[in-house]
Amino acid sequence: MSTRVLSGMQPSGRMHLGNLLGALENFKRLQAEYECFYFIADWHALSTNYEDTSHIREWVRDMLMDWLASGIDPARATLFVQSRVPEHAVLHLLLSMITPVPWLERNPTYKEKQENIDGRDLSSYGFLGYPILQAADILLYKGNLVPVGVDQLPHLELTREITRRFNSLYKPIFPEPQALLTAIPKVPGTDGRKMSKSYNNTINLSDTEAQVRAKLKTMVTDPARVRRTDKGNPDVCPVFTIHKSVSAPAVIEQVNKECRTAAIGCIDCKKLSADAIVAKLTPIWEKRRELERMPKRVDKVIAEGTTRAGSVARQTIAEVSEVMHI
Ligand code: TRP
Repeated sequence: MSTRVLSGMQPSGRMHLGNLLGALENFKRLQAEYECFYFIADWHALSTNYEDTSHIREWVRDMLMDWLASGIDPARATLFVQSRVPEHAVLHLLLSMITPVPWLERNPTYKEKQENIDGRDLSSYGFLGYPILQAADILLYKGNLVPVGVDQLPHLELTREITRRFNSLYKPIFPEPQALLTAIPKVPGTDGRKMSKSYNNTINLSDTEAQVRAKLKTMVTDPARVRRTDKGNPDVCPVFTIHKSVSAPAVIEQVNKECRTAAIGCIDCKKLSADAIVAKLTPIWEKRRELERMPKRVDKVIAEGTTRAGSVARQTIAEVSEVMHI
């Protein structure tokens, strides 16, 4: 059987440059090589955001449009929405029967989130079982490779443990999935910390050119370079990290040299990085505008993806029912 790639993302509204460079470009590369399943994990989003669900549908759609605008191709990859394929819930239930609660309780992501997310009650059953749902997502499609960030490794490890347990209790029908870590370094946000929605430091795919340029102007640089005549150190400058992920090699080299000698100032350097970001986002903006004029096309992508994913999912559930004698 061919190698299958599977990954999911929680709908959290519009995507940012960090998502584009970290995840989407990776998805795009993989779709050329493997049989890929990419889905929007709207049920997972409920595990931490069950109180206000009013924007979930809109966010699902927005995310899918950003995927399409970024070049994720529904002719190459199966794109779908988790809640449209109810078999995810069926497999989640079956796997929950064989998963010891202590495996879930010792998951570092579980503990960390319970401690760090204030103002939300995360004592729910669904939140504890989050990794079982993720295991179901992966096993339903017999995914071999799972492109994710390092934060997802504990979940992947748990999926592998559940897989081994299932395979040894019944029949070895599931491959043990492997994480495929993205090599791209963390993209810094405008304040120099990791680009993240929760830090409010993102450059969004939905920003206009003027917004991108304005954000770059306020971005932090090498803190030791105060005056234009001071020599800078690109190795500690977040703007240089942005250059390394978006600019042409010649520009990276130029900035790297001229910052150290103070031949170029931060304002000019930031302008060059804004130019590179704008060049990268312009085709995405154009495609997104086109998609916004064709809502039916987005509906069709979701409908076709659901059909394809659903038929694989139903086959797996039939096989699981068979080996479990239910
Ligand atoms: N937990 C993942 C995240 O928060 C999203 C996700 C859900 C996922 N199911 C998945 C990722 C299956 C990979 C495979 O980013």
